[in-house]
Amino acid sequence: MAPERTQGVVLAPALVTGAAAETIHNAALAWRDGRVVYAGPAPRLPADLDGPAEVVLRVEGAVLPGFVDCHTHLPFFGWRADEFEARLAGRTYRDLQGGGGGIYRSSRLFAEASDDEVLAFCRPLAAEMLAHGTTALELKTGYGLSVEAELRQARLARRLASELPQAASVTLLACHAVPEGMERAAWVEEVCRELIPAAAAEGLADAVDVYVEDIAFSVEDLLRVAGAACEHGLAVRCHADQLGGSGAAEAAVRAGARSADHLNHASAEGVAALGAAAGTTAAVVLPTSTLFLGAAPPPVGDLLAAGAEVGIATDFNPGTSPCLSMPEVVATACALYRMPVAAALAGATRVPARVLGLDGDVGTLEPGRRADFVVLDSADPAMVAYRPGHNPVAEVWIAGARAHPDGSARAHPDG
Ligand code: NIG
Ligand code: FE
Repeated sequence: MAPERTQGVVLAPALVTGAAAETIHNAALAWRDGRVVYAGPAPRLPADLDGPAEVVLRVEGAVLPGFVDCHTHLPFFGWRADEFEARLAGRTYRDLQGGGGGIYRSSRLFAEASDDEVLAFCRPLAAEMLAHGTTALELKTGYGLSVEAELRQARLARRLASELPQAASVTLLACHAVPEGMERAAWVEEVCRELIPAAAAEGLADAVDVYVEDIAFSVEDLLRVAGAACEHGLAVRCHADQLGGSGAAEAAVRAGARSADHLNHASAEGVAALGAAAGTTAAVVLPTSTLFLGAAPPPVGDLLAAGAEVGIATDFNPGTSPCLSMPEVVATACALYRMPVAAALAGATRVPARVLGLDGDVGTLEPGRRADFVVLDSADPAMVAYRPGHNPVAEVWIAGARAHPDGSARAHPDG
């Protein structure tokens, strides 16, 4: 839904622009036609911007760029809480998947649901993300697992995106699991020869993703799919070194991927490769997935020391991360990975905007970017990382219009 034309100014005790590292105190953020025209100290707000703005708002909480969730598995249909209980009782993720559960189960649930049922399931989840400050997000396929069903999931993703106030980018994760009864190599060929060209021709996807794992796809498969994606103008992403190490992080760098995600078992070579690839391939960590699986943490300290760009995302999905809150994943990243708060906030805004190819538009509050911001219920930005389980987001604005948790965005008439 297109937000209305607005101009406005918000005056705040603290502003994190994401363009500079420091928090600006006693700050002003001004926008025109939904785009930022000024973000800096309030006393230096140009006089012509201080004029009869449609919105002049004084807030008591810190203002931050809206969160960008660059790794989600929406749209999906249905939950798998019983698998969580089975894992708590000793079953493993690999073992459940091998028995036809896991991704295969979500694929069956998706196949059995009508388009309307899938959308009715996903809309409130996207609205809940909005209420937690997510103003841009990724939508992925990967529960289709046939050419037709993957195209259906991508069309549903585009349809959902067209209804949301958030910016959204769609990723084809056809190489998520080998379709039952099919050879892995045959599926990779079908994905490269049929699915990617068809999805690109219909404008259904912005990127492709490959799950590189012993229960899924190989490094060679990633390079093959990346080649096909490149021919059709699609970006590349990679689920890398999640359950075990397979050299996927280095391979993602070789493939020119925008990101290597998970990285729980990334090798020293993978860390070094991601350090050297900063600006091209980001390291995206998924803290609630680590927590929910009881997995080994990724080498976040080493990645930061190597100079890698580290993004943080929810990995929102019914199997390994049923958490859709960016504040929660920021809090988990800080506590579990000992990530500095400033790095975690950049990892939830600026870095993921680039991963989604939306960095000209979102992720920082600087002139020219969309005025997508959150107002916290505290003047201290660090509170995002400090109170897990609490939603610190008091207000969400998209393109200079107040966005409501019910999923709508409109100009803000009444303060
Ligand atoms: O990112 N590991 C592969 N894919 C997802 C899980 C998907 C599922 O279990 O449904 C992940 O963790
Ligand atoms: Fe994932």
